[in-house]
Amino acid sequence: MKGKRNIFLVGPMGAGKTTIGKQLAEILKLEFVDSDHVLEERTGAPIDWIFDIEGEDGFRVREEKIIEELTQEQGIVLATGGGAVVSDKSRNHLAARGVVVYLETSIEQQLERTRRDKRRPLIQHGNPRETLEALMKEREPLYTEIADLTVATNISSVKSVAKEIVELM
Ligand code: S3P
Repeated sequence: MKGKRNIFLVGPMGAGKTTIGKQLAEILKLEFVDSDHVLEERTGAPIDWIFDIEGEDGFRVREEKIIEELTQEQGIVLATGGGAVVSDKSRNHLAARGVVVYLETSIEQQLERTRRDKRRPLIQHGNPRETLEALMKEREPLYTEIADLTVATNISSVKSVAKEIVELM
């Protein structure tokens, strides 16, 4: 495992970071942490409220601080928010402090998995497909830049993706 003790999952909304992360943590006997969840617990407010009140910029400031803090943990599987990689600082922390796994998926799969979800305010309005495509164009180079491993999550089941990651490490 390259001597590193953390696994950081990056990838777009609906890639399966939370579901696969939980499975991976169970297999590897590590603690599972979801950065969006920690952020909601700390603020006492759901993600869409934070976006409403503080805007995306306000959310990103909070997200950057949480990533800085959580990447200092040892022995965790961390599911990051899809936009965490936009911050240079967060990318540096993720790349330096754990094995970064990019969960790659299709727009179809993202649309299927993110229907009616309040933790994804970026696709609550407008055309979700166009938004997801635009975000992917902007972020895919950032995911691949810091990824130690890239795993496709489209076809395989959660268990087999988690096993594949374990075997690749
Ligand atoms: C976001 C992804 C979400 C959440 C927020 C913003 C993004 O996390 O952090 O809605 O910018 O792509 P998931 O990737 O877990 O859906």
